[in-house]
Amino acid sequence: MADVSLRSVSKRFGKVSAITELSIDIADGEFVVLLGPTGAGKSTTLRLIAGLEKPDQGTVFIGGQDMTTSAPSQRDVSFVFQQYSLYPHLSVRDNLAFPLKSPAHDLNAVQINARVEYVAQLVQIDHKLDNRSTALSGGEMQRVAIGRALVRDPAIFLMDEPLSSLDAKLRGDLRVELKRIQTELGATLLYVTHDQIEAMTMADRIGILNDGQLVQLGTPREIYENPLNIHVAARLGQPTINLLPVQAIAGIKAPDLASIMGIRTEHLDVMDTQTTGTSGAPDAIGRDLPQSDASALDTVAKLDRVEFLGDQNRLHLSIGEHRLVTLGDGDIEYRVQPGSTLHVRARNALYFDEAGNRV
Ligand SMILES: Nc1ncnc2c1ncn2[C@@H]1O[C@H](COP(=O)(O)OP(=O)(O)OP(=O)(O)O)[C@@H](O)[C@H]1O
Ligand SMILES: [Mg+2]
Repeated sequence: MADVSLRSVSKRFGKVSAITELSIDIADGEFVVLLGPTGAGKSTTLRLIAGLEKPDQGTVFIGGQDMTTSAPSQRDVSFVFQQYSLYPHLSVRDNLAFPLKSPAHDLNAVQINARVEYVAQLVQIDHKLDNRSTALSGGEMQRVAIGRALVRDPAIFLMDEPLSSLDAKLRGDLRVELKRIQTELGATLLYVTHDQIEAMTMADRIGILNDGQLVQLGTPREIYENPLNIHVAARLGQPTINLLPVQAIAGIKAPDLASIMGIRTEHLDVMDTQTTGTSGAPDAIGRDLPQSDASALDTVAKLDRVEFLGDQNRLHLSIGEHRLVTLGDGDIEYRVQPGSTLHVRARNALYFDEAGNRV
């Protein structure tokens, strides 16, 4: 495998700036996920690396070599497309073998077969090798599409939302498998998605892409705990980070320039009004409250409704006109009624200025 670098790469389509001055280094053996909403420029970035698009400016390096003007066939990349496409008239085995039969590979039939069977086991489709590719479920077709990329040993794997068309259960399973396969192969992989869970669980580093610009790049933990702006803060975390004007909580000591504060659900502790909220004691909804610290913000909120999700309850609260969400334990609805006033304690608030940048 190889390292890949983009240096100030820009690409326009007519009036649309799909990618602006994008620079990123992907190390050999690294799993990088580009996370961004629809239209952010994710597919364009992959296509620029694969050579399916030419940048208007900037340089693409693969394995240290300038490949900016090289043809796709010279770049040694393996691509899983957003809309997966198998050869319908071929069996699973022949679909998997197809990339190895190009003249660029000098493999005999025995070697090809060994490689196909190895990869079929990796993506767990070995029991269907002789099926036609049309006689498969959507999830199985997707495994074949991923397997067809994996049979080669390219400089880099590029994967464009390969799991997005699958149901939640299969997506969860394949996410774990893909991470395992990547680790096992020591593969360099650039994966794009709009799914924050995929990004958080698989990536060595996440790049947040918005409007064609790389807004922040870092480990999942760095990005989650230390977002550079509101956009990044809101991209990660489920439920989404609570955002409210600093004036919403009376008496807080926000930094100068702070206009908005962000409080993640796990940093919003709730007690009912009867509880005094002694630090370290379990609160009224059963969570052990962490030790209070000087930066904790105490206020009252109204409980609007409880959303029961089985393993957790989401508590929808309001502070004046501002809505917040936090989590409660499994049976809070037996103890606190919607309409009650709760004592709320917020910790580890993140502050942003009017433009949305972190202060
Ligand atoms: N061939 C093209 N011609 C014109 N505009 C294009 C073309 N390809 C992409 N664009 C535009 O470039 C921008 C980035 O598109 P891109 O496909 O890279 O987004 P994406 O992040 O992959 O989105 P999605 O999540 O919907 O797949 C969009 O505004 C899109 O409309
Ligand atoms: Mg796309």
